[in-house]
Amino acid sequence: MKLGELETHIWRLLTRASADRHAQWRTPALCTILQNGSPTARTVVLRACDETDRTLTIHTDKRSSKYAEICDNGSASLLFYDRKQEEQLRVQATAQFEADNVAARQWQSLGEFTQRMYKVEGAPGDAVDQWDQYSHEGDGVSNFAILTLKAVSFDWGRLDRDGHKRALLDLENGTATWAVP
Ligand SMILES: Cc1cc2nc3c(=O)[nH]c(=O)nc-3n(C[C@H](O)[C@H](O)[C@H](O)COP(=O)(O)O)c2cc1C
Repeated sequence: MKLGELETHIWRLLTRASADRHAQWRTPALCTILQNGSPTARTVVLRACDETDRTLTIHTDKRSSKYAEICDNGSASLLFYDRKQEEQLRVQATAQFEADNVAARQWQSLGEFTQRMYKVEGAPGDAVDQWDQYSHEGDGVSNFAILTLKAVSFDWGRLDRDGHKRALLDLENGTATWAVP
């Protein structure tokens, strides 16, 4: 692996993960900041990625905690891990939501099963007496949000028999360096 080829390699893996539901990097942890300043993380699905714009796309529910957290503080991080290749990527990013009309257009392309999740009455995290005690009566589209994360830096690492590797890439300045793992 050459340092100069690493960014291309990473974007290739991200692009694959956004298109292939079985890809190892398909479900990263999205980390945000709670209003009390504490970090918090949850699993999300990588829906799209754009190397030219350096953006990564996640879908979520406007009623979820993360929506308010990101509206409050757009600093976010995504953590990808491939357990087969033992390859990790930490992305520092600035996060913001697309306008409602953009989300409404994208809504049409979602499958019925996916749309159904946004039709649930009650916000994600609301307590219910039984696990299945929620209905799908809402319109859904008004809850659907598209989160765009603009990647600022990559911290990449891989455990290898011939020596562990780590590299830090500053995407804004276009600089990269190997680092002690
Ligand atoms: C495999 C998996 C994939 C998930 N994908 C998403 C996702 O793409 N978007 C999302 O909002 N929540 C997703 N979730 C649910 C979140 O992990 C989380 O429980 C939920 O969004 C509430 O998070 P919050 O309270 O921090 O906002 C997924 C959960 C699992 C287990």
